[in-house]
Amino acid sequence: MTTLATSTGARYARILGTGSYRGSRVVTNEQMCTMIDSTPEWIEQRTGIKERHWATEDETPLSMSAAACRSAMDMAGVEPGRIGAIIVASVSHHRPSPALADYLARELGCPDPAAFDISAACAGFCYSVALAESLIRAGHAGDDGLVLIVGVEKLSEMINIADRGTAFIFGDGAGAAVIGPSRTPGISPTVWGSKPENVETIQIENWLAGASNDTGYPFITMDGRTVFKWALAEVTGHAARAIELAGIRPEELDIFLPHQANDRITDALVRHLHLPENVAVGRDIAEMGNASASSIPIALDRMIREGRATSGQTALIIGYGAGLTYAGQIVVIP
Ligand code: UT7
Repeated sequence: MTTLATSTGARYARILGTGSYRGSRVVTNEQMCTMIDSTPEWIEQRTGIKERHWATEDETPLSMSAAACRSAMDMAGVEPGRIGAIIVASVSHHRPSPALADYLARELGCPDPAAFDISAACAGFCYSVALAESLIRAGHAGDDGLVLIVGVEKLSEMINIADRGTAFIFGDGAGAAVIGPSRTPGISPTVWGSKPENVETIQIENWLAGASNDTGYPFITMDGRTVFKWALAEVTGHAARAIELAGIRPEELDIFLPHQANDRITDALVRHLHLPENVAVGRDIAEMGNASASSIPIALDRMIREGRATSGQTALIIGYGAGLTYAGQIVVIP
């Protein structure tokens, strides 16, 4: 019988560098409330959001992700020519084909990477961490075993300003990470999955429907209350399971960085996990809004650059959103 060769890669993987880019137009709650029937206090009390970053017309998913990726490669000390694979997590790329990852490869000067996009909404970055880690350990990430992952969103184009229940939430930006081989474990087993019965809870309309909107773009629709309840009832358990699978206790975590969807959900997760006070909790939503797939890497990059997350520390990251999808793992800070 013919025996095929199979690939094997590094024993472990870890994050080597991070980078981020925030849309440059800051929209305060006061400004938001000139567009929708709400109050700055209601928005802040219900979500923790004080302002959000929206992209300008010139800031595109490609330009924002390229900026975040350059910064991540710079921190990692990795040249574009060494990147073996690029994974983009986004719901904002407006072309079914080619993938945003292909445009990004050209923009960054990566000569021959495997390149593809994934659609896992707000869980997209953590899905990408799982994929990158698997590719590296399987030996599918090029000669140097380096994967560039980026979560990027420009959701301001897709909000329905007449829907006061969702219009104020979303923000625009990109967050990237270079993931590569490691001598020690740097990414724990991923807890991931989806809840098919709630597939319609958060949706983006199809493009034909979008064409008749004032903006020409499809709108995001969300049953926020259902998402909120699911996050409290089930995502809490998934987060606890991620800690358990990593073989550590909650008090051994240094950082907790959930998807920045709502500070009240973050508070509930912190309570459920019994995290001690010294665990630094990511609360980037106040200035950024909910930037979907980019929310975790943008917040992570900020914590690293501000010295609130330091090399060797452990962070639980967990994303959850449309699908309903979720994914979480513990990562070691580069
Ligand atoms: O990132 C993807 C995952 N998404 C999420 O995780 C979102 C999770 N959900 C949420 O964050 C919250 O559900 C929201 C912030 C979206 C909404 O907060 P809520 O406390 O769940 O509000 P609700 O939708 O249950 O509405 C409560 C009330 C309603 O009035 P009545 O029916 O009680 O009289 C709404 O009409 O608040 C009203 N309301 C508003 N009032 C002032 C809804 N939106 C607004 C608004 N300003 N912008």
